[in-house]
Amino acid sequence: MSAPILEARNITKRFGGLTANEDISLALHAPVGHVVSVIGPNGAGKSTFFKMLSGFIKPSSGQILLHGQDITGMSPHRIARLGLVRTFQETTIFPDLTAMEHVSLAHQLHREASDLEVIFGMPRARGDEIRLGESAREILELMELHAVGDTEARHLPQGLLRLLGMAMGLASRPQVLLLDEPYAGLNPEETNRAVAITRKVAASGVSILLVEHDMKAVMAISDRIHVLYFGKKIAEGTPAEIRENPKVIEAYLGTEDEELGL
Ligand SMILES: Nc1ncnc2c1ncn2[C@@H]1O[C@H](COP(=O)(O)OP(=O)(O)OP(=O)(O)O)[C@@H](O)[C@H]1O
Ligand SMILES: [Mg+2]
Repeated sequence: MSAPILEARNITKRFGGLTANEDISLALHAPVGHVVSVIGPNGAGKSTFFKMLSGFIKPSSGQILLHGQDITGMSPHRIARLGLVRTFQETTIFPDLTAMEHVSLAHQLHREASDLEVIFGMPRARGDEIRLGESAREILELMELHAVGDTEARHLPQGLLRLLGMAMGLASRPQVLLLDEPYAGLNPEETNRAVAITRKVAASGVSILLVEHDMKAVMAISDRIHVLYFGKKIAEGTPAEIRENPKVIEAYLGTEDEELGL
């Protein structure tokens, strides 16, 4: 197998006396088009793990490698520049800005010209603007949001706001995109649509790492699944293997997700 794009080595995170992640190792081998999921009951440590991968919190111990480069403890901004991005949550949506303006705003992160060059409208800045405008339109198209490009966010339904969050994540052209519960709160129709679009995004050349409670969606979309339970990784495999795994079945017994297709 080729070298992993993203690798967590023996990651541990303690919050005082609580060990939210204990010695987790995970390698993301994601050829183009692949989606890898991390699942586990409430409080298993999934979001904590994602926050460490994307630089929002620092591990107590262990190492994170992106394309073989050690990114442990780097700022989210630096990690994003190296190609790993966590999606924006609803809190970063501005009601009065249009969908297109949101993607353009997220694009500013990716601009090549300095602020001064932008202020004085120098050639590189103008070139940037044209390039970024095209790129934003391309992203809206990929996310099937082009029809609402000029619509203000406050008029968009929840399902489309989620897709907009993903579109903003794509604006910095990541190689790895982390999605934490992208389908939570969506109705079945919105979920199906979002799942199909997620797959399209993966096929466009982005490796996707997903945390999700909707087991039907997870089973349908994932090429590989990692399972966390009380901060530890208890299983890894294909959806078919995970569904049959006795440790996983036991972990989910008595939880809300029990009947959801495991
Ligand atoms: N900043 C923090 N300070 C203290 N404890 C925390 C902090 N963040 C998370 N925890 C604890 O760490 C454990 C794992 O939390 P985490 O949010 O990673 O779980 P999760 O798997 O994402 O859960 P959910 O499915 O409910 O989103 C929980 O017991 C949680 O209370
Ligand atoms: Mg969580």
